[in-house]
Amino acid sequence: MTLDEMKRAAARAAIAFVPDNCVVGVGTGSTANHFIDALAEIKGRVDGAVASSEASAARLKSHGIAVYDLNAIDRLPIYVDGADEINRHLHAVKGGGAALTREKIVAAVAEKFVCIADETKLVDVLGKFPLPVEVIPMARSHVARELVQLGGRPVYREGVITDNGNVILDVHGLAIAEPGKLEGEINQIVGVVTNGLFARRRADVLLLGTATGVQTYQ
Ligand code: A5P
Repeated sequence: MTLDEMKRAAARAAIAFVPDNCVVGVGTGSTANHFIDALAEIKGRVDGAVASSEASAARLKSHGIAVYDLNAIDRLPIYVDGADEINRHLHAVKGGGAALTREKIVAAVAEKFVCIADETKLVDVLGKFPLPVEVIPMARSHVARELVQLGGRPVYREGVITDNGNVILDVHGLAIAEPGKLEGEINQIVGVVTNGLFARRRADVLLLGTATGVQTYQ
């Protein structure tokens, strides 16, 4: 089974978690794209979606799925999204696609966060994948110096502007022993919009596509 087939299998398994007649929170990335395509097959039984990026909104619309502003809906029973790394406590690193802030907002509102990923994303310790931090552009150098103080090696993601008009620093060299603590510390730095650690709002369910089938962690 290829990596893409594992992503697709995890994404399709998430459809079983989607309640009837609800608005669905939809993430960003190649695994989330598989979920959007699967959602299109059952679009008659959902009311529409909230998207965590312009790219996902465009894909949803191309399938004829209504996309709502998060402020316009009463409740969001489910959010489905991928991850760059995830551990067995369902703490994740996200933001490889630069959509981390909107992802974190939608995840915060959702009653259930279902993470979908291929087996390569499951790790014992988070941090091998460089931790994305979204930063207000004028604060870039300041934030980089502060991240060095926290033990990381920030690298400016050149040429990338987020959907919110900000820049990304990818922090290398972290072995993240306490994800919730580090998430809070980085968010305290002036100029940081948010970072890609999803520990304080972790996933509720992980659907992991593996060579032998989809495994469920919760
Ligand atoms: C987007 O910003 C990320 O958080 C994605 O969820 C993450 O990069 C996973 O992407 P893939 O599904 O493409 O691996």
